[in-house]
Amino acid sequence: MAEIAVTSSQLEFTFDEIMTEDAYDEPLIAGGVRCHGGYTNGEYVSPRGAVRRPAIGNWQTRLAQAGEPLIAVPEKYVPPNYPSYPQAKFLLQEGIVEPVTRSLTIISIVEGFGARIREVEVPDFASEIEESVEGTALAHLTNGLFEAHARDEAGHRDQGGHKQMWEAARDVGLDKPEIPNDVLLRLMSGPGRGERKRLFPALSETMEGMITMMANVLIIETFAEGTFDWAQELLGDPEISADAERAAHIVNCVARDEVPHVDYLTVALSELRSRTLRSADGKQAFTGAEVIDTIFRQQLRGMATQRPRQNRERMREEIRGCIDDTKRASAIARTFEDLDTGWTFPHTDDEELDILLQPA
Ligand SMILES: [Fe+2]
Ligand SMILES: [Fe+2]
Repeated sequence: MAEIAVTSSQLEFTFDEIMTEDAYDEPLIAGGVRCHGGYTNGEYVSPRGAVRRPAIGNWQTRLAQAGEPLIAVPEKYVPPNYPSYPQAKFLLQEGIVEPVTRSLTIISIVEGFGARIREVEVPDFASEIEESVEGTALAHLTNGLFEAHARDEAGHRDQGGHKQMWEAARDVGLDKPEIPNDVLLRLMSGPGRGERKRLFPALSETMEGMITMMANVLIIETFAEGTFDWAQELLGDPEISADAERAAHIVNCVARDEVPHVDYLTVALSELRSRTLRSADGKQAFTGAEVIDTIFRQQLRGMATQRPRQNRERMREEIRGCIDDTKRASAIARTFEDLDTGWTFPHTDDEELDILLQPA
């Protein structure tokens, strides 16, 4: 593949440019599956990054030069993975593999769901945003950014993506564990999201829907950083991992691939934040900051409180479900809960969440 030079002032890119791959020496093969990305001089390099990577950097620089802050989820709001590393290690050492297998399988399925980002509808920016979006990440959402993201998550054609890489990490680390056949079923029948209440009914449904979806995915991607650390620690622990080095490496490749996702979503939402949004009927105007911050905070609060609680409840049930002897089940559950960090989202309903990163 030809080298593509991206100058630091370039802000417009074609779809094909955004998809451009680096010149790899060899592909990534994980658990026998050909995956995306590859190695250059022995270093793993993420897929579709030759142009996408510098492009996101250019949009970000432009925003910083305009003095606009970037939206971010501060670390203090990020729930630790549940079960924690000591909890999961304890279960594995007790020979209780299924809950951890299930957790890792759920991660792979959820990664695959990430492909739905390509279905996000984008409003007519020309009529719904007062300022121009020329030369922004926003203008490239449907011109490569969403599609590249979808391919990274679910794989594309003959290349596996994160879905397949997580399956590989699980199978390499836990030595091809038996996969419960109801993982997807239980996941789908879990607590639903219910109907979404419109926060800005004057905006077009497409505009609010797009912002909500992007905020939601950005928060999931940020929370996932804790999951990557957890999985690298756990699957990289030679006391319980069948191939610690390899399993941890595969997770590390996924973690690196997530960086452009967090970055482009951050830049695009922050670009929107610095603009003026028009209502669907054209009669009202909202500052982007008011809209984005309100939606982002609401999503963040919901996800940081509900998800840890649901995970806890699910895990408790699973542990009991996979041990026949009730006495042993209680003893295991007790030790397991003693290892709980007890993390809860430490912010009351009326407290404003701080979600901005000032430019350097
Ligand atoms: Fe992913
Ligand atoms: Fe991602």
